[in-house]
Amino acid sequence: MPDVFNCTVLSVEQISNTTYDMRVLAPEICGESRPGMFVHVKCGELLLRRPISICDADGDCLRLVIDRRGDGTKWLTERKKFDVIDILGPLGRGFDLSGGRLLAVGGGIGAPPMLYAAKRAKSADCVLGFRSAENVILLKDFGGVCGEVGIATDDGSLGYKGYVSGLVKLRLEKGSFDRVLACGPTAMLKSVWEVCREYGAPLQVSLEERMGCGVGACLVCACKTASRTGEERYSHVCKDGPVFDAGEVVWQ
Ligand code: FES
Repeated sequence: MPDVFNCTVLSVEQISNTTYDMRVLAPEICGESRPGMFVHVKCGELLLRRPISICDADGDCLRLVIDRRGDGTKWLTERKKFDVIDILGPLGRGFDLSGGRLLAVGGGIGAPPMLYAAKRAKSADCVLGFRSAENVILLKDFGGVCGEVGIATDDGSLGYKGYVSGLVKLRLEKGSFDRVLACGPTAMLKSVWEVCREYGAPLQVSLEERMGCGVGACLVCACKTASRTGEERYSHVCKDGPVFDAGEVVWQ
């Protein structure tokens, strides 16, 4: 059973109109973290914790990039240096980083966990998708750890105009990767899966799902998966995932 830790906030910086980059002192969590895992954060008096992907775990410093969407994340992003927050984790199953050359694909707030994956991979390129140039985050960080960085924006205000799956297709046309790893909204993951299937590229996806307990006890995060023989069942995104082989997921 994962533990709860009281972690001291080291810094909070706003990096786009709704996104915040938070660093906390969390040696125990960092020691156990792997790319693709997440933490479950208690936000003030709110009953349900908020799941946040791990963006990096460097020494004792845990990095969380938070999209301010509701009361919980608003509370969280208003924390100040030296405040203490209650964090459960690390949780879930991470990415398989074996293989020589990986393509990391992140859409919106799905980009931060891909930075951690790219940083720990032997060699990685990345493709990132955002709604518009003003929503782009972590570009410099990806530039520091990836060979090639591709950007897609829905409105064409920066980089390739269109969805990230279009840019993934162009990358796979140019050369092959041992594995593609992706995190973002379900519709994006599904389109990336269609492209990867076309090019025979193995894909692992990190699913975004609503969560309750975070540890496999409440069924809030259930998603349909299928075994190799095609037998369907419900898996817990929090415990069996959030990372799955794309072929395991029953795409709705
Ligand atoms: Fe409770 Fe996954 S969030 S089982």
